Amino acid sequence: MRRSWAGGAALLALLAAHFQASPALEEKKVCQGTSNKLTQLGTFEDHFLSLQRMFNNCEVVLGNLEITYMQSSYNLSFLKTIQEVAGYVLIALNTVEKIPLENLQIIRGNVLYENTHALAVLSNYGANKTGLRELPMRSLQEILQGAVRFSNNPVLCHAESVQWRDIVNSDFLSNMSMDFQSQPGSCPKCDPGCLNGSCWGAGKENCQKLTKVICAQQCSGRCRGRSPSDCCHNQCAAGCTGPRESDCLVCRRFRDEATCKDTCPPLMLYNPTTYQMDVNPLGKYSFGATCVKKCPRNYVVTDHGSCVRACSSDSYEVEEDGVRKCKKCDGPCGKVCSGIGIGEFKDTLSINATNIRHFRNCTSISGDLHILPVAFRGDSFTRTPPLDPKELDILKTVKEITGVR
Ligand SMILES: *[C@@H]1O[C@H](CO)[C@@H](O)[C@H](O)[C@H]1NC(C)=O
Ligand SMILES: *[C@@H]1O[C@H](CO)[C@@H](O)[C@H](O)[C@H]1NC(C)=O
Ligand SMILES: *[C@@H]1O[C@H](CO)[C@@H](O)[C@H](O)[C@H]1NC(C)=O
Ligand SMILES: *[C@@H]1O[C@H](CO)[C@@H](O)[C@H](O)[C@H]1NC(C)=O
Ligand SMILES: *[C@@H]1O[C@H](CO)[C@@H](O)[C@H](O)[C@H]1NC(C)=O
Ligand SMILES: *[C@@H]1O[C@H](CO)[C@@H](O)[C@H](O)[C@H]1NC(C)=O
Repeated sequence: MRRSWAGGAALLALLAAHFQASPALEEKKVCQGTSNKLTQLGTFEDHFLSLQRMFNNCEVVLGNLEITYMQSSYNLSFLKTIQEVAGYVLIALNTVEKIPLENLQIIRGNVLYENTHALAVLSNYGANKTGLRELPMRSLQEILQGAVRFSNNPVLCHAESVQWRDIVNSDFLSNMSMDFQSQPGSCPKCDPGCLNGSCWGAGKENCQKLTKVICAQQCSGRCRGRSPSDCCHNQCAAGCTGPRESDCLVCRRFRDEATCKDTCPPLMLYNPTTYQMDVNPLGKYSFGATCVKKCPRNYVVTDHGSCVRACSSDSYEVEEDGVRKCKKCDGPCGKVCSGIGIGEFKDTLSINATNIRHFRNCTSISGDLHILPVAFRGDSFTRTPPLDPKELDILKTVKEITGVR
């Protein structure tokens, strides 16, 4: 048994130091995102503040971006920092006039809304012909997985002018559900310079940039112009500024420093001379769609060299050389139990003959364990028989006691 919390502060300081030393991580600020779907958190104001807290300064959303219940007076300019969403984007039940997701380049669709949609824009209207009018997602050039749905946005402009075929993966075009209702005349016109009249709003800066439907036949994915020499590297998503895998606007799979790759550099390499696996000094962990030297704090390393929030159910968390890792369990695995004074043992002072069986197979105790002498004597008042010290053997599976935090 050991108290893992004692070293916690030192570990955090260590990881924080590594975190700053890694430029790839410092470059983009990440946030978790949300999974509330259409649930409102408290009042409209509470809901707004929690959205702002989550996404303020965020560049890469590791989960979903859900913008819901935003009222007409709210200032959503903090959303302008967002560039990437790994899950889905849900925009629903808002009466705010403008949602300025101007820098959102890619929706990966690793998680889909209702198992189908990477982008869902639903029922954004208020009384008296108010509601969402402007959704200037002028940088959105890639949706890797999932379809798009627009429904019940009576005053929304320009979404129908956008060529969604250029953005959405063709495998998902059959599931698109586009119900546009805006009245012509009530919207500003696209700039006359926009290709085929496709735009996200008025002004030249809001013209849709096409990077797929215009490509030469030779291109395998995206391009930056019509000529065969304008093809992007096939590791690119969204588009590119040149032909190489370091010229992509966004990486399709992983970004290692400035280069797009299929996988991150492996942590171990086979040494054909010694017939052993050696540590690769250039190895990196995968964290979302980036390769990192160290997992950020609050993340653990898996066997496969990726950073995850929590170990899977067949493994448990250990700390080795200052790195938190997931290890495969031998024997019972990852059973977290309440400590004395917590949860089911809230009103209990000690482990005793009555309650000890509840600690069987526990590997982690959330809270503390206490054993008072009375446990071995027994207590007639609470009808607790004496505890046989041999029974304490049950606690042998415990690997961690977190302590009361
Ligand atoms: C919204 O907030 C941003 C900065 O937070 C500010 O620059 C901008 O002027 C605000 N817009 C309105 C309409 O209040
Ligand atoms: C809607 O418009 C009507 C008449 O123009 C007005 O009486 C009413 O107060 C408005 N409602 C809201 C919520 O603005
Ligand atoms: C289309 O949507 C249906 C129903 O939601 C889903 O079962 C199917 O897998 C989707 N197809 C694709 C290609 O995503
Ligand atoms: C522009 O529109 C025309 C006619 O609707 C169509 O034939 C052409 O393919 C479109 N161009 C692009 C780049 O989508
Ligand atoms: C403890 O684990 C063993 C084997 O892993 C299992 O047979 C037993 O049912 C478990 N007991 C409890 C109380 O979880
Ligand atoms: C023994 O544990 C049971 C169940 O947790 C509790 O109700 C009882 O009060 C305890 N007895 C003593 C003497 O701690």
